[in-house]
Amino acid sequence: GLSGSGKSTLAYETEKRLTEIGKTCYVLDGDNLRFGLNKDLGFSPEDRKENIRRTAEVARLFNEAGLIVIASLISPFIDDRMMAKEIIGDSCFKEIHISTSIEVCEQRDPKGLYKKARKGEIPDFTGISSPYEPPLEPDMLIDLGAASLDDAVNSILDYMVREGIIDI
Ligand code: ADX
Repeated sequence: GLSGSGKSTLAYETEKRLTEIGKTCYVLDGDNLRFGLNKDLGFSPEDRKENIRRTAEVARLFNEAGLIVIASLISPFIDDRMMAKEIIGDSCFKEIHISTSIEVCEQRDPKGLYKKARKGEIPDFTGISSPYEPPLEPDMLIDLGAASLDDAVNSILDYMVREGIIDI
């Protein structure tokens, strides 16, 4: 989903709820990874691809160690998400599109980035000066302009139960 769509908030809330019921999980968040592992990367299509590749490889390792991984990234390109699916494996990879509209994201603008992007101060900004390719067949679709955080977390947990990823 777009910047400001609520991905990180939802990811950490889901992690909290899973931890409360005894599941070991970990959030890989684009913003945070860009402070460390991915700090050499920018927002060109090539760098975003590398950002996704590295994150997917880390997710795979954590999966192997038995953890549920919640990866919260914009990941705007279909091809890059397909690459992540290949790295992580079909059966473990689930794609959740946080479909909060750009109007809502821009109105919320929690980091003031849309304002800067509109003024031309941030190049290649997703949704403004860089494309966002929505998933064509996501496993789940959540609009955080409409759904509450609580409802969204519950729907993810329900989905995980239905898919046999967790049992409660
Ligand atoms: S991704 O496209 O490579 O998957 P990622 O999720 O890691 O992006 O990082 C997105 C975050 O970086 C946004 O939430 C925002 O805070 C910040 N950011 C800074 N510059 C840009 C930009 N040009 N486009 C999108 N997000 C940006």
